[in-house]
Amino acid sequence: MATSQPAILPDAGPFSLYVVMKVVGNKDTVIEQCKSLHQTLAVLNEQQPGAELRASIAFGQSFWSSLEKGSPAEFSDFRELGKGDITAPATGGDVLLHVNSSRHDLNFYLLRRFIEPMAKEIEVLDETYGFKYLDSRDMTEFVDGTENPKTVEARSDVALIKEGDFAGGSFVMVQRFIHNLPAWNRLSIQAQEKVIGRTKPDSIELDDVPAASHVGRVDIKEEGKGLKIVRHSLPYGSVTGEHGLLFIAYCSGQHNFNVMLESMYGESDGKSDQMLRFTKAVTGAYFFAPSVEMLDSL
Ligand code: HEM
Repeated sequence: MATSQPAILPDAGPFSLYVVMKVVGNKDTVIEQCKSLHQTLAVLNEQQPGAELRASIAFGQSFWSSLEKGSPAEFSDFRELGKGDITAPATGGDVLLHVNSSRHDLNFYLLRRFIEPMAKEIEVLDETYGFKYLDSRDMTEFVDGTENPKTVEARSDVALIKEGDFAGGSFVMVQRFIHNLPAWNRLSIQAQEKVIGRTKPDSIELDDVPAASHVGRVDIKEEGKGLKIVRHSLPYGSVTGEHGLLFIAYCSGQHNFNVMLESMYGESDGKSDQMLRFTKAVTGAYFFAPSVEMLDSL
C-alpha cells in the first residue's frame, strides 16, 4: 500500500499548526515546495530528535484538478450550511499544511522554511497554532477525542483510501470555530452535559443522549455501522482575543463529513447541534492529502 502522509495516522503531539493558503502566483514553485516538505521534515527530525515533527500537505478541489492527476471519487468543495445564527461558511483554500509535534517553536520554524521560497506565490488565508489543553480537553472543558479511533490499524481503516490510483490518500475537513465561553460558562454543568451528550469530568456517554446534543448529532449509524472519522482538532487562541477549536479530521471519503455536517446544521431532520449556540465556525474547507508517493510524483 502507498504511504500515507505522516500527520494523518499517529496520535498528535501537544502542539500543532494549520495553514490554509491560496495560490496567487506561480503554481510550479508552490508544488516544488510541497514536494520538498517531507525531505525537510526528515532533516529536522534528525537534527532535533524527540520532536516527532509530522506534517501533511493537502490540496483544495479546484487546485488539485488543475494538476491534471485525475480526481479521487466524489472530491467536492465544502458548501455553506445552516441558517440564522447557526451557519458554517465555506472559505476555501488551495493548499493546507497540517503540522504536529512536541515543539511549538519547530512548527513555527518549519512553516518559515516552507513559506519563504514561495512567499510571493501565495496568500495565507488562515494560520492557526493549536495546543493540547489540560487532559485533552476542548476549551468548553469537555474531553475531545474519546471516541476517536485509537490504534493505527483502526485509524488507517477509517482515514485512508484503500485501493486504486489514490490509495494511501485521505480527505481532510477543516473548520475553525470561535467559542463564546462566557455564554457557555453561564450554563450549569448538567446543562452543558446535555449539550455535549457526555459527562464533563470523565467523558462518559449519557444514558439518554439528547438528539440535538453534539454527540446526538454526530454519532450516526448507517446500516447498523457507526460513521467514523479521524479527528486531530486542538484548541487555539488567546484568553483576551479569539479562541476556540481548530477542527480537523481525515477520512477515506467525504460522505461521513457531509452526513455529520448536515446533521449538525439542521439539514437532515431540522434539528441543529445545540453546541453551535456557543461556538461559531469562521472557516470551512475540504482538501485531499495524496499519498507520499503521489505527492512526489506531482
Ligand atoms: C465527539 C467537541 C466539532 C465530529 C465530540 C466530543 C466533544 C466534541 C467534546 C465528545 C468526546 C469525543 O468522543 O471526542 C467538539 C467541539 C467542536 C466539534 C468543541 C467544535 C467547536 C465537530 C465537527 C464534527 C465533529 C465539526 C464533524 C463534522 C465528532 C464525532 C465525535 C465527536 C464524530 C464522536 C461521536 C461518537 O461517536 O460518540 N466532539 N466537536 N465534531 N465529534 Fe465533535
